Amino acid sequence: MNMKKSILAAALLATMTYANAETTIKFSHIVAPDTPKGQMAQKFKEIIEERSNGDIKVDIFPNSQLYNDNKVLEALLLGDVQMAAPSLSKLQRLTTKMQVYDLPFLFKDMDAVERFQSSEVGQELLKTVEPKGIVALGYLHNGLKQFSANDPIRVPADMDGKKFRIQQSDVLASQFEAVGAVPIKKPFSEVYTLLQTKAIDGAENPWSNIYSQKFHEIQPYITESNNGLLDYVVITSKSFMDSLPEDQQALVREAADEAIAYGNGLAAEINNRDKQSIIDSGYSEIIELTPEERKQWVDAMRPVWKQYEDQIGADVIAAAEASNEAQ
Ligand code: LMR
Repeated sequence: MNMKKSILAAALLATMTYANAETTIKFSHIVAPDTPKGQMAQKFKEIIEERSNGDIKVDIFPNSQLYNDNKVLEALLLGDVQMAAPSLSKLQRLTTKMQVYDLPFLFKDMDAVERFQSSEVGQELLKTVEPKGIVALGYLHNGLKQFSANDPIRVPADMDGKKFRIQQSDVLASQFEAVGAVPIKKPFSEVYTLLQTKAIDGAENPWSNIYSQKFHEIQPYITESNNGLLDYVVITSKSFMDSLPEDQQALVREAADEAIAYGNGLAAEINNRDKQSIIDSGYSEIIELTPEERKQWVDAMRPVWKQYEDQIGADVIAAAEASNEAQ
């Protein structure tokens, strides 16, 4: 090869290497940027773009701009997006064991959730999505859910015949059926309109989702029920991970770990802040339950645990319940 040709070849190689080196991760999610999930995604982007020296770029698509969570799993497996953080409730079709997280009144607070998720059983559960081509990068917190409605909801009898939006989860359907309500499975992106047009009577969400989606502006009553959990798993696909060189795979894991820790550190603060903003807004009356009222809910919904025991495993339910005792 003469000099001119070899310079040309080197230039061509450099261009190809550069083109190959740039990887874009599309991170699709369905909530607002100023939520635990939105903040986690932003932190992930910052870490990975900086530490890869720009070789990996992250484009975040919040607020169901690209996909809702019912479609995002397919999109991930098809390679149309590379990262997502669906709620645990939406993983039912990958693994029935994850349904443990939807059991009503299982965790007394987020410390119990944290203890269970970081336990051996909690970590084993994460792996149950892997045979489906999904890589679970870690649990991410949002918080406990509250009922919101057009009418005051104080005791289970107040639910009779009311239509409540739920996520794609059979356990959540059973939870509402246990108190005589009518569960309606709908994507998160449709909830505001459904509430506004009164096609449904209520919904269950953590404070951060109620506030950031402005549900409180059209729901005159919010019951501080803390009746269940809304947490996530941050996921990518095995085929995407396999397409990356080892150092970039390690970077994705490292950035996800740090961003999840950051999001988890913010989750309680964001939920408390948003609860206060809802109170200050004056749109909704916040209903606090007395211990007796709370007991009525627990008694009415607890049979749901037994209903799903075969699918989840009695051992998994027992381990989750035991996490309420501080070690
Ligand atoms: C929902 O559909 O209610 C949740 O999955 C929303 C969220 O926080 O992702």
